[in-house]
Amino acid sequence: MAARKIILDCDPGHDDAIAIMLAAKHPAIDLLGITIVAGNQTLDKTLVNGLNVCQALDINTPVYAGMPQPIMRKQIVADNIHGETGLDGPIFPPLKREAEKTHAINFIIDTLLNSEGDITLVPVGPLSNIAVAMRMQPKIIPKIREIVLMGGAYGTGNFTPSAEFNIFADPEAAKVVFTSGVPLVMMGLDLTHQTVCTQDIIKRMENVGGPAGKLFSDIMNFTLKTQFDNYGLAGGPVHDATCIAYLINPDAFKVQDMYVEIDVNNGPCYGRTVCDELGVLGQPTNTKVGITLNTTWFWDVVEECIKKYC
Ligand code: RIB
Ligand code: CA
Repeated sequence: MAARKIILDCDPGHDDAIAIMLAAKHPAIDLLGITIVAGNQTLDKTLVNGLNVCQALDINTPVYAGMPQPIMRKQIVADNIHGETGLDGPIFPPLKREAEKTHAINFIIDTLLNSEGDITLVPVGPLSNIAVAMRMQPKIIPKIREIVLMGGAYGTGNFTPSAEFNIFADPEAAKVVFTSGVPLVMMGLDLTHQTVCTQDIIKRMENVGGPAGKLFSDIMNFTLKTQFDNYGLAGGPVHDATCIAYLINPDAFKVQDMYVEIDVNNGPCYGRTVCDELGVLGQPTNTKVGITLNTTWFWDVVEECIKKYC
């Protein structure tokens, strides 16, 4: 089967780095470009982090800088989880890799317009880049095969009781995407929290060796502390990597078609993905929402990709 053409839009970010690690090496994925957005940290930091990961793993995929701010709201960052740099933990050598001169939004628009409509967007940070691309050039919307995103939750949020970080960091952008009509797959916290990366898993991946085994260990060891301190978790969920895993093997996942709406009203539910699990609104469904995944298979595919860097 032909590899799935994707653009990975991210805010590295510890789990973003693991998503890059998988997307760049798995044969089921054709990684056309990596677009960077402000999110876990400011854009200057998330861009450096993305370039550092690509340089450390000798990933030659072009990297593009995107939106430095959310569309409307005041910017927030997730330094409580990802640290001051946005990728605290690993020590990288001097950075030589540079971002492309083209802006991420223009890359997304140009690539989609020149495509056969066979490209999947995989946003795993705030949806600012995707929303602005849609608004700048609406003609890209019918050219997007699918959007597989990490964000939201039908249960509890992680940045507020109602909202998950990626959506909360730019709710207006999320509303543009969730009302675009593009087929959506949403890997929310209810799904991604099934991938908590505990000490034994870190050791398993470290024992693979090579640059990816070491980077995985340096990255995920840092989150052992922040995820415990913030949420009492035994490790960092590799939220973003679940989107790549879904594209590699959707049969390893259970998803449910739901109508999902973004709350952009100021108040305790600002930035919530309101998921109509029971279909009480009678609205046509717009999103496949991740419910469960085969975690044994998931860690096997993570290990498989790490081995490809040896
Ligand atoms: O809430 C988890 C999401 O927020 C992940 O994408 C993580 O990288 C952060 O961006
Ligand atoms: Ca992310």
